[in-house]
Order: sequence, then C-alpha cells, then structure tokens
Amino acid sequence: MRFSFLLVEAALLATSLVSAAAIEQRQAATKVYTFSSPKSAEGIAARSNGQLLVSFFDKGEVWTLDPTTQKASKLATFEGATCSAGITEIAPDVFGVVAGQYGGAGGSTKGSWGIWKIDFTSGTAKTSLLKKVPESEMWNGLTTLNNNTILIGDALKGAIFRMDTTTGAYSVAIQDPTLAKAASGIPMGIDGLRYFNGTVYFTNISKNTLLKVPVDQTGKATGSITTIWSSTQADDMAIGPDGSAYVAAGSKIQKVTVDGKVSTAGTVAGSTSCTLGRTEADKNTLYVASNNGQISALKV
Ligand SMILES: *[C@@H]1O[C@H](CO)[C@@H](O)[C@H](O)[C@H]1NC(C)=O
Ligand SMILES: *[C@@H]1O[C@H](CO)[C@@H](O)[C@H](O)[C@H]1NC(C)=O
Ligand SMILES: *[C@@H]1O[C@H](CO)[C@@H](O)[C@H](O)[C@H]1NC(C)=O
Repeated sequence: MRFSFLLVEAALLATSLVSAAAIEQRQAATKVYTFSSPKSAEGIAARSNGQLLVSFFDKGEVWTLDPTTQKASKLATFEGATCSAGITEIAPDVFGVVAGQYGGAGGSTKGSWGIWKIDFTSGTAKTSLLKKVPESEMWNGLTTLNNNTILIGDALKGAIFRMDTTTGAYSVAIQDPTLAKAASGIPMGIDGLRYFNGTVYFTNISKNTLLKVPVDQTGKATGSITTIWSSTQADDMAIGPDGSAYVAAGSKIQKVTVDGKVSTAGTVAGSTSCTLGRTEADKNTLYVASNNGQISALKV
C-alpha cells in the first residue's frame, strides 16, 4: 500500500520533476475511471474477458470495472474486513483477494487477515472465505505460485506466507530482515509481491527497495535475496509475458527487464498497483490503480 503522506508525495514529485530528459521519455496515462467511495484503490487484476477487478485500502470490497464502457459496480464484500489489498488469479477466472482490518497509520488488527475467493466460473461471481489466519499481522501482497499455492506478504511480520488454495493450509515460507519494516518511516516492510518463472519479486516500502529471490515450488528460497534498486519507494507490480516487471513507484511506473534494466514506463500520480490487459485489444495496456481513486491506462 502507499500512505498518502504529503511529504512523501511532495518528495516523489520533486524527484520526478528533476530530469526533463526523463520526462520526455515517459508516456502519458489516460484516465479510465475515478472511484470516490471507496477511494483508495490498492489492488488491480484483469479477467480473461477484459473486465478489471479493483480492491481498496479503505474498504473490504472488490469492484468490477469495464475499461471500455468505463462503468464500475461493487462485486464482493468481505465480512469483517475494512481493507482489501492484493488480488491474484488462482485458477481460470477464480481470484484470490487479501482482506483484513487495517487500523490507520500502520496499525492493523492482528489475526484479522485472510484470503477470500471470487469465483466467476458459474457465470455469476461467488465470494467465499478461503482462510483467516490468526498469525497474520498485516497482509498486503498476493501472488500465485502454482496451481495449488499462493504466496502472501505480511508487511508487519516481515514474512511471506504460503497457502494451499483448496484447503487453506498455510505456513511461513520466507522470513528475512529484507522483508521487515524499517525502524522509522512507513511502518510496513514487504508490500508488493509477484512470482514469475522461478523468481519472487517484492518491494520493501519502508526501505525503498525492490528485491528478488529464487524459490522452489513450495515457495522456499533456493538462493539469496538480491536488491534490484534501493532508492525508489514502490508498491505492487505486474509482470509481463516476457518477464518484465512494471512497478507502481509513486508518481512513476518503473519497468524492470529480466536482465535488470530499469526505465520509466510512464507517470501516474499515487500509483499503488498495476496489471496488464488480457484481451487482444488491450494486451499492451497497463492498467494502474492509484490511492486517489483513479484508474489509468498506459500503453507499454
Ligand atoms: C496446472 O498448471 C499447469 C501449468 O503450470 C497447467 O498447464 C495446467 O493446466 C494446470 N492444471 C490445472 C488443473 O489448472
Ligand atoms: C527492508 O527493511 C528492513 C528494515 O529496515 C531492513 O533491515 C532491510 O535491509 C530492508 N531490505 C533491504 C533489502 O533494504
Ligand atoms: C524462465 O527461466 C528460464 C531459465 O531460468 C529461461 O530459460 C526461460 O526463458 C524463462 N522463461 C520466460 C518466459 O521468461
């Protein structure tokens, strides 16, 4: 997630205005929709039929948004949750969503976090709780590891959980200082989290880092955690078919290629997460969610 700390925003804005050359290379994003209540868009995913799913840091709900007609409606409410975050497709047209009770200013109700499923396979959306986890402290990032397993980032515990998507059985897969929150500043560590082709990418929001670690099919690290960058605050990301990561980094979307080259794909204020379109028409469109309620489209 991103806090709307004015100072942080101001600092990011100042940084992003420094280089005129850099600005020229950036693509302009177009507005798709603006949410007002709930507002703080936190997670975004595309269905194979082109519809978008959006979660909210200020509400335990998921909305559906048609990027063509630019119409949105509420799809799912997660009982007892005040906040929803990472979204991932766990099976064809079945999505997992993180939700729980965020307490403001980094506070969180421990044990309130869990994974809900939204299943579209019958033609109508069916929402169910997969599992709430008593050991959860503040869940946010979510990614699909394989057919049976998802990985979940816990920003306060500084850990990545694994969970079986059928039984809800769970355990800690990785716990490491690189996932922990910093002693000061934003009280969250691991934030965005995505798996691609044997590698888990994650951000540590309090340390402005983007990192990666090779994992096996149980989510266990099989090598050391390496830092891709350490000077840009970043939230969640999307990984394209060629393995390039598009990272929501405040006012910028940063692209990171598999061989580690970083460039700016575009500018979008308050970005929290992004996803690539799934249809022939929008497969080169990156949809970006922002904490100001805006959903934007960026050609990549
Ligand atoms: C499991 O994943 C593989 C690819 O990793 C895919 O080919 C297969 O269809 C999946 N099986 C099910 C039941 O989803
Ligand atoms: C993530 O934040 C923790 C806490 O400040 C820090 O110890 C760790 O080094 C950070 N990770 C990286 C790779 O910077
Ligand atoms: C996945 O990784 C393997 C080896 O690490 C590589 O050969 C392959 O091209 C990668 N696949 C994709 C889709 O990037």
